[in-house]
Amino acid sequence: MISKHLNDELNQQITYEFYSSHLYLAMSGKLASVDFAGAATWMRTQAEEERIHALKIMDYIIEAGGEVLITGFEDPKVKAKNIQGIFEQGLEHEKFVTSRINFLMGLATEEKNYSAVNFLNWFVNEQVEEELNADTIIRSLKLIGKDGNGLYQIDKELGARIAVSSTTTQA
Ligand code: FEO
Repeated sequence: MISKHLNDELNQQITYEFYSSHLYLAMSGKLASVDFAGAATWMRTQAEEERIHALKIMDYIIEAGGEVLITGFEDPKVKAKNIQGIFEQGLEHEKFVTSRINFLMGLATEEKNYSAVNFLNWFVNEQVEEELNADTIIRSLKLIGKDGNGLYQIDKELGARIAVSSTTTQA
């Protein structure tokens, strides 16, 4: 069983993960509209991953005997207009998600809920990877600057990101 407090906060996290999915989908649309088809594909894949994160938490709540509550959220806003700015906004968002995962981990630890700690460990590792991915892309974009060839090349590389299956929560 999970406590009501942890259950509520996990439900809140489901909302954040679905919001993340919408935000990345909005970024994908924006990138496609400024002719970065590869980066748009990368963002669309990221949106799918976020949806899987939400489903993973949902499955855990059910397994732990809790109650799932799905709620709505505000419209995602893509503030930046260029590719570097969009990835920077993505990184800022991931830092927020990391702070949420750390908060959930703190709560589970405080409650001595070691099953939840074990479950959340996957998200701790995932956040390290997600921040690193965004940071690596931003560093490359900074090096490339306005060089057309470089931008063409990185867009091609981003477009090669392999899509995850949308039917599994094992990602
Ligand atoms: Fe599910 Fe990108 O955090």
